[in-house]
Amino acid sequence: MPTPLYDRLRALAGTRPLRLDMPGHQGGPVAGGFPWPSELDFTENGATGDLYGGEPDAIQAAEGLWAARLGFDSCLFLTGGSTQGVHGGLALLAGAGGTVALDRGSHRSAYHALALLDLKPVFLPRPWLAEEGVSGPISPEAVEEALSARPEVKTVCIVSPTYYGVLSDIPAIAAVCRAHGAKLMVDGAHGAHLPFLGYGGYQAADVVVMSAHKTLPAPGQTALLLANGFGLGDLQRWGSVYGTSSPSYVLMAALDAVRDYMEGEGAARYRETAQRLDGLRRRRPALRGREGLALDPARLTLFSPDGFALADALRARGIYPELADRGHVVCILTCAGGPAELDWLEAALAESGLSGPPAPLPAPPEPPEAALTPRQALFAPRERVPLADSAGRTAAGQIAPYPPGVPVIAPGERIQKKHLAYLAEIGYNMDRCDVIHLREE
Ligand SMILES: Cc1ncc(COP(=O)(O)O)c(C=O)c1O
Repeated sequence: MPTPLYDRLRALAGTRPLRLDMPGHQGGPVAGGFPWPSELDFTENGATGDLYGGEPDAIQAAEGLWAARLGFDSCLFLTGGSTQGVHGGLALLAGAGGTVALDRGSHRSAYHALALLDLKPVFLPRPWLAEEGVSGPISPEAVEEALSARPEVKTVCIVSPTYYGVLSDIPAIAAVCRAHGAKLMVDGAHGAHLPFLGYGGYQAADVVVMSAHKTLPAPGQTALLLANGFGLGDLQRWGSVYGTSSPSYVLMAALDAVRDYMEGEGAARYRETAQRLDGLRRRRPALRGREGLALDPARLTLFSPDGFALADALRARGIYPELADRGHVVCILTCAGGPAELDWLEAALAESGLSGPPAPLPAPPEPPEAALTPRQALFAPRERVPLADSAGRTAAGQIAPYPPGVPVIAPGERIQKKHLAYLAEIGYNMDRCDVIHLREE
């Protein structure tokens, strides 16, 4: 299968060129013998192409293969993670100074993007699933309600899947957006593997961001910005605002190579992982799909009466999960592992004796009133205070425990006693939080 960028770089390296340009290793060893494929670590040199412009070349060919595989009009490689894509995508769709219908469970990159673009949020709520102790999907009805109430809102931004693996119905939400003349951006940072498992929901969105590095066998920081109805030039423009002007060719070549891998062996291995995980989910207390609750087939959210103790027990057995909270342990299973790894996990779970229904968690309180916009909150002078003493103060950053994985308090919102009581009840670290400096309030 073709890997145009990776092939180009390897061929060029094979000519053993005299490199009198950047990076400073010039194709030789990196300091201290640090293992790094410096022979592939080029800059824009006329033969390697340009991520953000110039005549379409090997990079654009590699991006085009991704776009075609995932069913999008255009694709831009990102070397600054999904963070770069969330910033670029929101700038592309929403511009500056307007209002966005935002999944309240958005990553901090979206909150930062709002602040930098001076966008105001209308929050889209997620239902609390009491039995499972996690937040449920964003419903098309919630999007309909938000867009009907605020017809000036023309950008909707949601996360799918969540950290816990909960998928929202993207095609149904996209249909609501279309009916209101709004564009839909999906933060699929945790979902890059899903299209290779046969999931087609992302194609309905206008813009999608995915971290290759989170769920595919790809290096840290590699990610993709995908779009329908926008050309590569639009993505390049905004990608270059938020990305380095020296994008790593090693990371870009890895994006090229991982697509090729996922077309064949990677997808087959992922399918096997998902199949085995399905069995494990049935045998152990864990988050399972049901009517109204669609899940990422490769994300394992284990239930436990003490998620922190279960995570400790797993670590004591050499297993490092992604996330633990009071009632869950979240494991990311990919094509990198096989049956032996899942057997190891299952044996450790049985030995730990800490599986069972999730520790009960109360529903999160209603979000507080906003006193400042995200932009005002980001740029205002701030101070650190004990969280327990912060009632009546305005939050400078997010206070977002897992679960719900949704900020209990978002930047610019006034902290109330009931929010502190909830945070204390769920065992949140009450140490300190950033609030706006009083004299500026
Ligand atoms: C939902 C979501 N979006 C975006 C990001 C940012 O991704 P990255 O770390 O690739 O920049 C994360 C990171 O955890 C995330 O969970």
